[in-house]
Amino acid sequence: MCGIIGYIGNKEVVPILINGLKRLEYRGYDSAGICVLCKNKLQTLKKKGQIIELENELIGKEIVGTIGIAHTRWATHGEPNEINSHPHLDCKNKIAIIHNGIIENHFSLKKILEADGHKIISNTDSEIVAHLIEKFYNENLEEAVIKAIKYIEGTFGLAVICETEEKIIAVRRGSPLIIGIGDNEMFVSSDASAILEYTKKVIYINDNEIVTLTKNNYNVKNLDGNLVNSEVQEIKWNLNEIEKAGFKHFMLKEIYEQAKSIENTLRGRIRENKIKLSVDIDPKLINKIIITACGTSWHSALIGKYLIEKISGIETCVDYASEFRYRNPIIKNNDLLIAISQSGETADTLAAIRIAKNCKTLGIVNVVGSTIAREVDFGIYLHAGPEIGVASTKAFTCQVSALILFALHLRQELGLELDFGLINELILISGKINSILDKADKIQEISSHLKDAQNFLYLGRGINFPVALEGALKLKEISYIHAEGYPAAEMKHGPIALIDENMFVVFIVNRGEIFEKVVSNMQEVKARGGSIITITDCPDDEMIKKLSNFIISVPNTCEELSPLINVIPLQLMSYFVADAKGLNVDKPRNLAKSVTVE
Ligand code: F6R
Repeated sequence: MCGIIGYIGNKEVVPILINGLKRLEYRGYDSAGICVLCKNKLQTLKKKGQIIELENELIGKEIVGTIGIAHTRWATHGEPNEINSHPHLDCKNKIAIIHNGIIENHFSLKKILEADGHKIISNTDSEIVAHLIEKFYNENLEEAVIKAIKYIEGTFGLAVICETEEKIIAVRRGSPLIIGIGDNEMFVSSDASAILEYTKKVIYINDNEIVTLTKNNYNVKNLDGNLVNSEVQEIKWNLNEIEKAGFKHFMLKEIYEQAKSIENTLRGRIRENKIKLSVDIDPKLINKIIITACGTSWHSALIGKYLIEKISGIETCVDYASEFRYRNPIIKNNDLLIAISQSGETADTLAAIRIAKNCKTLGIVNVVGSTIAREVDFGIYLHAGPEIGVASTKAFTCQVSALILFALHLRQELGLELDFGLINELILISGKINSILDKADKIQEISSHLKDAQNFLYLGRGINFPVALEGALKLKEISYIHAEGYPAAEMKHGPIALIDENMFVVFIVNRGEIFEKVVSNMQEVKARGGSIITITDCPDDEMIKKLSNFIISVPNTCEELSPLINVIPLQLMSYFVADAKGLNVDKPRNLAKSVTVE
């Protein structure tokens, strides 16, 4: 959701900013812009489209300097065009800002500023910030920013430069912001990926903190102007983790990384026949578990409910974070709220943990140092490594793995016997995932028959119903084909009306007690002319062979772990369909990674 980067130092700033924008492009990619303090004047260039368009536009332009800010946009207010893209400037072109977030009271502020004589030229909520700072500017940028943001309602990660001061001011409320500390150079960015190749020393800025960067120094203050002691932390990721490593897309690379990333989630957490998690919660005192999340993470949450209830017997409910936060949920003191988020910055999930003030909170998060990770009482990091592809893949399987560990941990702390068959199978799961990835060619071949389809249904049952939801989400978000997930048995309550010879239906069918029932659902589809793609660990079953147009066989595993296996062909299928359609898999239209606005 918009990426921001700023640099101050001795080096030529434009390549650093463009490079940073490319790393941040997964956060937004409908327009981009750059502003450099060049010979005591602010020089700005903006361009609709991807960073490459901006980069091409810069060729032959004399924009040089060692201080600058840049932004890649995911439009919320105002269409993607040059005027609406950032940086935004004040009336005299002396102050430039980049903004991630939403200024909720921008209409009322705009009226006040226009009455004061300010000329606001864009349709964005962000531009008013430049004019507010201009209003308060009196030869001290930091003071002007502090005064301006007192009038702002909403969320912001802001970076500001001005023609007459050699510094960058950055401030946040509700949108992520980190500072990178280099040798005689400083960076500000929405996330670590943009600065990782220059420095690993970072400070995670908290809400209502303001930072002043000069090339040799930084200070972090609260909004009363008092210095704050901020911890300098070391980023653990390496540069090669945020590069494509020979894969055509980040999504494909991340699909292939899953065996390894699950091993990283499990690493050190199963030892001496025990589950070792630093989650100091006595499950005997838990009344109920509430899991909240959005999108793919919400699908993991649904699997988490199934796992926790089955393995530990503790009642668990799941809520979309966006619904939970606005419906006055009943939260008892002895409830446990779990927030699942890859980015750790999703605005709705963050808001959900903030309303759960009276109970303990646990975060299952990938990005170390993210806001959710810092605000919860306990955390389980995924250690999946950076997920850059907008469509979440490895975060999903690592979230499910973390939830299995947590369910086992609860059971262990309740004093109940652990199922070592399940634990051993969990340890072996990476090998089984790799065996599916080895058959990607076959899945690609099947996908080539699907690229012109208009509609898909994904059907699964029990713990694999959320996998059906996830398969449908993956397909629609990157291939723009309409797809819906349902519990297989629900089909006859409505969706069956959609089935005709143009409908593709993906079934997830594992051996087990409901096998026959799902096969009956397959028959119902076949009888109505639908085409069936079956993901199954029983590829040789006569009925499966008879009913399926395409079969993707997967290794057998225990029910609790089957989502980790079944989701892999669904991810690959979505990827190959979207790629066969020639779509930009890593940057699907209208989407952005890390939804930091409501
Ligand atoms: C789908 C996808 C989104 C995210 C959702 C939550 O592929 O990536 O649905 O899962 O925006 O994001 P996090 O997990 O960062 O809170």
